[in-house]
This record gives sequence, C-alpha cells and structure tokens, in this order.
Amino acid sequence: MLILLPLRLALLGLSLAPVISAHPTGSATPQDVPRGLLPQDPSEDPFYQPPGGFEAEPPGTVLRSRRIVASFFGLLPNLIEAHQLLYRTTAIDGSAISTVTTVFKPLNSKPDRFISFHTAYDSSAVSCQPSYQYQLGSPQTDLILSLEMLVIQIYLLLGYVVASPDYEGPDAAFGPGRLEGTGVLDGIRAVGHHHAALGLDSATPPVVGVGYSGGAIATGWAAGLQPTYAPELDIRGWVAGGTPANLTGTLVFIDGTAFSGFIPSAIVGLNQPSAYGARLQPVLDDIVTDAGRSILETTSTQCAPAALVSFFGRSLFDPAIQTMGRGILHEPTVADILKANTMGANSSETPTAPVFLYHATDDEIIPYANATTLRDAWCSDGADVHFTTFASGGHATTEVIGLPRVIKFVEAAFEGKTAKGCAMDEELSDQLEPLALGVSLEPILVKLLHALMLAGKKDGKLRQDVKVWGEIF
Ligand SMILES: *[C@@H]1O[C@H](CO)[C@@H](O)[C@H](O)[C@H]1NC(C)=O
Ligand SMILES: *[C@@H]1O[C@H](CO)[C@@H](O)[C@H](O)[C@H]1NC(C)=O
Ligand SMILES: *[C@@H]1O[C@H](CO)[C@@H](O)[C@H](O)[C@H]1NC(C)=O
Repeated sequence: MLILLPLRLALLGLSLAPVISAHPTGSATPQDVPRGLLPQDPSEDPFYQPPGGFEAEPPGTVLRSRRIVASFFGLLPNLIEAHQLLYRTTAIDGSAISTVTTVFKPLNSKPDRFISFHTAYDSSAVSCQPSYQYQLGSPQTDLILSLEMLVIQIYLLLGYVVASPDYEGPDAAFGPGRLEGTGVLDGIRAVGHHHAALGLDSATPPVVGVGYSGGAIATGWAAGLQPTYAPELDIRGWVAGGTPANLTGTLVFIDGTAFSGFIPSAIVGLNQPSAYGARLQPVLDDIVTDAGRSILETTSTQCAPAALVSFFGRSLFDPAIQTMGRGILHEPTVADILKANTMGANSSETPTAPVFLYHATDDEIIPYANATTLRDAWCSDGADVHFTTFASGGHATTEVIGLPRVIKFVEAAFEGKTAKGCAMDEELSDQLEPLALGVSLEPILVKLLHALMLAGKKDGKLRQDVKVWGEIF
C-alpha cells in the first residue's frame, strides 16, 4: 500500500502526460506507436488465457512463456532480458487458476539463486497487473509499481535474477493473503521449472522473497504457508516491511483518511471469484447501497492512485455506502474472512525460513502495533525473526531508508548467516546513505530517495498531491 507519489516522476526527468492522455484506458493507440508494438491489456491478451486442461497440472506448472520488452515507466526500454511465465496456482476454494510472473535476468546473473520480488500494486483491476505494467508502451496507471522498478533495479545491479509475480491472481484480488501467498509460492516453483531458460542451474534454486506494504501481504503469507504448501522449495529468507499483518487493524486505521481508497479496493479484491466471492457477494448484496455499489464498480477498474483519489477521506462505515455501519466488522461472514486473513494467528502457519520485518513507528498507513503483534506471535511459535523499528520517517520513506538493511539481510540469508531466534533493534536515522550499497548503485538510490522522500515525508504534502492526481487521472 505504498504511496509513492506518482506524479513526482517528473523528478526523474520523465513526463507521463503524453502516455496517459493518449492512452487513458489501455485500449486507445497513441498515434506515434505502431499498434503491433503495444502490449495488450490482460483482459484481451491471449497469453493470459490458460490452455485447456491446465487444471490437471500441479501448482507451479508453466503453461506458457514468452519474452517481453521491459521498460522504465512504460516509456524507456529497459535493456534487460525479461521473460514471462503463465503458471498454474490455486484459488481460495482450492480450485486451479493461473497467473503470470515476470522474470528479469541481468547480464552475468548469479546462476544459483534468485529474488522473488512482490511489488505493491494494491489494486483490484486486471490492467494494474505488474506483468502488463512492466511492458514497454503500457499505460502507467499503477505508479507504485513503476517506482518500485527502481528497487528491482538495485537487485539486478547486484547480479540477481528477479521474478515479480502477479500474486493477486487472474482477477486481481488485492487483500486475500492466502491467495497472494500461494501465488508467490507457485511463481517460485514456475521459475524453478523454467530454470534453464533463465540462466539458473537448478530446478529448486535458493530464493529470498521480499515485499513492502501491499507486497508484504504476499510475502508474509508466502512465508507462513510455505512449510505446508511448498515444502520442497529452497527458501533462504523472507523480507517484509510495512506489513499489513491484520486487515481489520489496517481498515480501522485508515478509514476516513487520505488512504481510505485502499478499503474499497480490498473489498473488491476479497470479493473476486478466485478469493471469497462465493461467500461474500451475497452479504454485500444485502447491505451495500446503490451508491456503495457504484463505488465498488468504479474501484474495480482503478489502479491504486485513482482509487485513492476517488475515496479520499471517506468512510466504509458511512450509511450511504452500506447499512450496517461499524457492525459490518462483526457480520459473521465478513468477520470470518478478516480473521482468516490475519497473519500469525495460526501456529501451523509459522515460517521456517528466517524473516526480516521492519516497520516505522509512525507509519501512517499500516499500524505499527499490528506488525509487532505478528512478530511476537511468530517468535513465540519458534520462528527466526529480526525486527527493526524505524523511529523516524513514515510509510514510504521507510521503504527506502530500510534498503541497506534489507540488502544486508538478503545477502546473509543466501549465505545461511542470519541469526537464530528473535532479535529487535532500532534505526534512528531518517537519512539514507546513498553510498551504503556501493558506488555503482548511487545514481539509482539518489533518484529513488528523492522521489520517495517527497512522497513520504510524513505525507504532509498529501492533500496537494491528491489534487495533482485528480487532475491527471
Ligand atoms: C486484529 O485487529 C483487530 C482490530 O484492531 C483486533 O481486534 C484483533 O484482535 C487483531 N487480531 C489479532 C489476531 O491480532
Ligand atoms: C492452520 O493452518 C494449517 C496449515 O495451513 C491449516 O491446515 C489449518 O486448517 C489451519 N487451522 C485453522 C483453524 O485455520
Ligand atoms: C491493530 O491495529 C489497530 C489499529 O491501530 C489497533 O486498534 C489494534 O489494537 C491493533 N491490534 C493488534 C492486536 O495489534
């Protein structure tokens, strides 16, 4: 749920305006780009359709593969080898579904390991899937993931192959952690099955999974489900920052704030067919008003920036939206689904690979207390957890300030050198040392830092930014 402020991309010397205005829905063709070169929206692109009979294949089976032209912000070609794999994964009800992972392979990549990177796309519209947004010529409507491309770039420069799955599954279900977790694990399996083409030397290469904010929902659930769902994987560690461990806690924390827009997105996500739609739709049909229905319909077509604008400052508990008020949290089906999506609540879902959790005390989107509750649950259930508290900075800035510690953990995890047991420490500085990760990474870090700092500085500029978004989207 990272809010990174899209429109600060101008800082990076890029203007998105031509792409956005020529290409508002993904269906129009800008005059100056030959049609054949434009990627197709996932709802139209046959690559996303699984072949007949795929349901009989085991989870993680590669169903299709292709090469794509990757990009920075949809505009600049990213001259890196990029592959996409359509793979079989599993819906909440246990049925077979398919989704896509995008795998970036740098020159001279390390052949014996890779990073599973779970970008924070935070949206319940299929046009926001990372596999689409990464392609050259795609409309950059999910700018959070566009900016996180800079974080991926850091791993690529360090020589890692990076896989970034569409972990929300085929209908883009934002919120249901179990679906996202199995989407991540089957994406890791798919990379293993396709290893030869990706320059990896084994079908079960060592992996570290990382994600921040919305990406930490996918990461935390993958960590908890892996010992039972995918025990054969060689997972060396998990990194989750700004982790929404408890959906109810996040909901009540952001309701009525600048970040309320994540709530209708998550309701749409939880209600998708691959998630809890069969159980949740009848409840929503009973309690959601016409105005509420129209909000959910709009949200189901929006990526995170637009959804935040649409629902800015509003409350889910508003009787104009649904008739139960705060009682919605106690409606039995809703309560059951929210409970099933609380990380750390079931001790049989405790990670066995080492975990690094980090969180800002002043995180204004994801409550800090819910992350420490997760830490304590996992620690008392025997997990190896390192938890770093960031004492200054907010949600977006902590993603960047945390990077040197994240990279250090990733490297130690691959070497099997992380500490056993549980440890906590505190980072007092709110500054990133751009040289902390080495001279070659400095230019990227400076850009990233600049964008994130403006975005996140306690989000004091948020109202103003939201106005800017409103003008653009
Ligand atoms: C999740 O958050 C809710 C609302 O703040 C709280 O009542 C509940 O106890 C939390 N659940 C867990 C398992 O921590
Ligand atoms: C706890 O997790 C295990 C493993 O995912 C699952 O089989 C079991 O049903 C869960 N228990 C409850 C009460 O949800
Ligand atoms: C989760 O966060 C919410 C919102 O800040 C808070 O009310 C609740 O007490 C927290 N619950 C737990 C168990 O951490």
